[in-house]
Amino acid sequence: MKTKIALIGFGTVGQGLCEILLSKEDYLKSKYGFEASIVAISDVLKGAVYCKEGLDIQQCLDLVKDAKNLDEYKCDGTNCNCEKGWDAIRTIKETNADIICELAYTDVKTGEPAITHCKTAFENGKHVVTSNKGPAALKYSEMQNLAEKNNVKFLIEGTVMSGSPVLNLVNGPLAGCEITAIKGILNGTTNYMLSEMEKGMTYDNVLKKAQELGYAEADPTGDVEGFDAMAKVIILSNVVMNAGINATDVDRQGITNITPEMISDAKKENSRWKLIGSIEKVKDGIKASVKPEKLPLTHPLANIMGATNALTFITDLLGDVTIIGAGAGKIETGYSILTDILEIHRKQ
Ligand code: HSE
Repeated sequence: MKTKIALIGFGTVGQGLCEILLSKEDYLKSKYGFEASIVAISDVLKGAVYCKEGLDIQQCLDLVKDAKNLDEYKCDGTNCNCEKGWDAIRTIKETNADIICELAYTDVKTGEPAITHCKTAFENGKHVVTSNKGPAALKYSEMQNLAEKNNVKFLIEGTVMSGSPVLNLVNGPLAGCEITAIKGILNGTTNYMLSEMEKGMTYDNVLKKAQELGYAEADPTGDVEGFDAMAKVIILSNVVMNAGINATDVDRQGITNITPEMISDAKKENSRWKLIGSIEKVKDGIKASVKPEKLPLTHPLANIMGATNALTFITDLLGDVTIIGAGAGKIETGYSILTDILEIHRKQ
């Protein structure tokens, strides 16, 4: 039976997921017996279409590539009853999707509209897979409890380090280890910017390039001021360490004060500036921060370049466990959604 999916938001991540589903269709079917049907897409800017038999994904991708509206979608199914223009809430409630991929824009201050989308999905008995940091950073336990109460899943691998397995690693293979501290590079945009600025690119040009490459948030202030990395630190603290922290508990600083002079001075000292997220269990709770650190080139994190991220888990039984991998990008984050969808498929 095909897994029926609705996409709320059809930006970089949703398009990345669709490209993967098209290019790996045969592989996913033969290896995992997995077949996906995107039944609905609803995007505030790009329009909305619902076909309970499943949409022609390539046509949807072509429409947005040509800056056309999804309302122009043409169904070639017989007896087609395609619906157009449904908003997110109606799409979540009334389509026949089993899984809602919440891929609307990220607002880590209010978490909306994503929190409402997730709640609506759970209350209607639908799984949520999301790379949106808002609900996970602000309301993780509430979302998790509501999902459990309704017997569905709330899966969020893509919220930290795109598709690189971080949360699933902790919940799966690392189960049984106590994690006492976590430290790493958690934002692809700023790591890419710092890497390219070292080669001589200007701040403005490299930020523009990071946006073109699909690394940056819709509002890149979230990246350069450290809010994105802060959201990931909160998610890791709450999911991995059950800490129940919020933004006021994180000492946050971005990269906007790092000048080209500071970068070249660091180079002369065999060092490099990196935006580092840290979480540490302390006597009375958790100490969490996001701030630029000047690391000697001998430090493992100093050599993580471009949009790549890296995260070290300090564990009681295994010592340090480090994962290095993609931290942002269209296919990389699209993949994070696929891996969580496959998790739901495996359990069915
Ligand atoms: N803007 C984010 C980053 C995207 O650059 O890391 C992935 O969360």
